[in-house]
Amino acid sequence: MNTSYPYECLTSIDSTNNYIKNRPEIWSRNFYTVRAIEQTNGRGRYGRSWFSGKNNLTFSFLYNSGLPLNISAITISAGLALRKALSRISGQNLLLKWPNDVTFKGKKLAGLLSEMIQGPESNVIIFGIGVNFNLDNIPEDLRDKTTCLKDITGNYFDAESVIQEIICEMQKYLPLYTLPLSADLIREFSEHCAQDANQVSVIQNGIVLKKEFTVTGINDQGLLCVIHENGMRESINAHELNFS
Ligand code: BTN
Repeated sequence: MNTSYPYECLTSIDSTNNYIKNRPEIWSRNFYTVRAIEQTNGRGRYGRSWFSGKNNLTFSFLYNSGLPLNISAITISAGLALRKALSRISGQNLLLKWPNDVTFKGKKLAGLLSEMIQGPESNVIIFGIGVNFNLDNIPEDLRDKTTCLKDITGNYFDAESVIQEIICEMQKYLPLYTLPLSADLIREFSEHCAQDANQVSVIQNGIVLKKEFTVTGINDQGLLCVIHENGMRESINAHELNFS
């Protein structure tokens, strides 16, 4: 790869998403990336914590297009970019578990936490990315559901080149965002969608409801389209959903 994208690298921070949130002076940038060698309070989706040891890759990517962005739809573009970069790096056709977990053989390789802040002109999105990386020992309680680049390929990876590949794809995919989403992005998502689970918890108004349904795809707003057992169709927002 010829282009080298600059990024800020911190030795240790609570969370790279928090770091960007707390620095309004960078919100007006178009793209900005900050990596932490170690996070002391890495956050996952649904308020979970994110395992952030030194052999994991953790960084956040700020995106400000100067236009209003729909967080569900732009997160689809970011997930596709992450999947593409990690597939190339691992030499495997990785899948996306809606909305943006990157998986290999049903195990999670990478996760993405997108958050929105109000920038000077419009909303700005922070994509927090965690890639399971050179892990020698995946903690036992995570082993059934988690994989890492080293286990997939048998090789250790250089963080610098992996981060560069991901930033490069983000810079290509995020400007493709339109609302409604383009047919090309919807198709690409369906082609690489790993939606085998149909037992989910839906969080509505703070209440967790267990539901069963079949996933049929995404719509042009980036929402998940499902059919319930009784035939009812529904479109669900990623921020309300938790696959079990
Ligand atoms: C998920 O739950 O799958 C999303 C995990 C996102 C973790 C990353 S690590 C870098 C950034 N900083 C955080 O605190 N979280 C995200």
